[in-house]
Amino acid sequence: MSFENLHKVNAEALEDAVVEICSSLEVDAAKLDELTAYFIECMEKGLNNTSVGEEKTVDKGLPMIPTYVTSLPNGTERGVLLAADLGGTHFRVCSVTLNGDGTFDMQQLKSKIPEEYLNDKDVTSEELFSYLGRRTRAFVRKHHPELLKSTGENIKPLKMGFTFSYPIDQTSLSSGTLIRWTKSFKIEDTVGKDVVRLYQEQLDIQGLSMINVVALTNDTVGTFLSHCYTSGARPSSAGEISEPVIGCIFGTGTNGCYMEDIENIKKLPDELRTRLLHEGKTQMCINIEWGSFDNELKHLSATKYDIDIDQKFSPNPGYHLFEKRISGMYLGELLRNILVDLHARGLILGQYRNYDQLPHRLKTPFQLCSEVLSRIEIDDSTNLRETELSFLQSLRLPTTFEERKAIQNLVRSITRRSAYLAAVPIAAILIKTNALNKRYHGEVEIGFDGYVIEYYPGFRSMLRHALALSPIGTEGERKIHLRLAKDGSGVGAALCALVA
Ligand code: BGC
Repeated sequence: MSFENLHKVNAEALEDAVVEICSSLEVDAAKLDELTAYFIECMEKGLNNTSVGEEKTVDKGLPMIPTYVTSLPNGTERGVLLAADLGGTHFRVCSVTLNGDGTFDMQQLKSKIPEEYLNDKDVTSEELFSYLGRRTRAFVRKHHPELLKSTGENIKPLKMGFTFSYPIDQTSLSSGTLIRWTKSFKIEDTVGKDVVRLYQEQLDIQGLSMINVVALTNDTVGTFLSHCYTSGARPSSAGEISEPVIGCIFGTGTNGCYMEDIENIKKLPDELRTRLLHEGKTQMCINIEWGSFDNELKHLSATKYDIDIDQKFSPNPGYHLFEKRISGMYLGELLRNILVDLHARGLILGQYRNYDQLPHRLKTPFQLCSEVLSRIEIDDSTNLRETELSFLQSLRLPTTFEERKAIQNLVRSITRRSAYLAAVPIAAILIKTNALNKRYHGEVEIGFDGYVIEYYPGFRSMLRHALALSPIGTEGERKIHLRLAKDGSGVGAALCALVA
């Protein structure tokens, strides 16, 4: 066979393989229907299930964690509060001044969590929380030095809200034990412990006992509260009053929360439910922990790449399978696994004779980050030059034009699946709560945060497209206002601390 013919056969084989992979990542309207119906079923089961920690057990439904937040802010709240926020990649300490008019001022110290706390298996819980304590002291030294000078009777206690973006079995507004780590952390001895106590102990050690951690909140709840505070009862663009109904995150991880009628939260002890209802509280915010949806893979489809990522590379095999198809931490890893497979099948990167010869970065799990994908997604440069440079820069990997075309198609399918799946919980909540029919026009607001939904090009419009295809239809999709609650978890934690 001539060189040209050989090249053509290879290019066609690659194209066929890519078409097949892309079609295995497709989520059509029928799948959206099926998944939305099952999501609602899992929400209901989860509200009745008392063992929050056992989300893997078949038929227990979603975690549906009660947060003890029973009312939403309206923008008139005032006060100066502290907030700390442990996310997937950063730890933030902030002081938040709520001005009472939907605005706030914030001073913050944001630190990238050092690799060793994420990847070193021998790191203990005490070491991690000691790091959080030290960063908090650094913040206080910089922004509130007066606190370090106060002694004895002068000490004025300051309330702090702690945003902890991992599944927690929350036992009150100010306490909760870690069910399991997600995203990158693996520190075993934190599981089962009260994270507020662990943090408060370290604050005390750092001489910061004037700080009282009075509220524990998930980042979705923080985002929701902050969205409610900043939006108040603002009219939407149509002049209609729209109601905040969901707080959600699409970043390193993914999750959401909403207000549920207390009488439906059967997992709350009867006595507590009766007391709350007696006090006139009718709703409570539920942290769904939707990353855990369908861990049994009853309705979610799984490609061989999904299975490999979950089992071989993820820190929590068998858990958070929905998150592993959606969140920013996994998008690049999916592409990396597909490329390694296409190479093993002799379809790309022929200059490397075997796996061992591949560039080190392509062989390293989680090395290919979603930021690279976001550049490829919209690359319209001649010969996909931008993609070529991105791959050279991030993976030290030279590519041919055919390979780059294949890579771009794969990237677009990976993200489309992510955005389409992201529509499922949103449609499910809107249907379950009947939110779209509550007022005459039924306009609703969704407060969101997270780098995928904020920055990934086209993610929001793909999500909207999927919402229109979902059971809520185009009519429902038009009533949704998506609003960014930037850094909402800090303001949200402060709002939680205010009412604690
Ligand atoms: C965690 C959630 C969190 C979400 C977004 C998930 O991995 O389990 O608690 O809200 O990431 O940060």
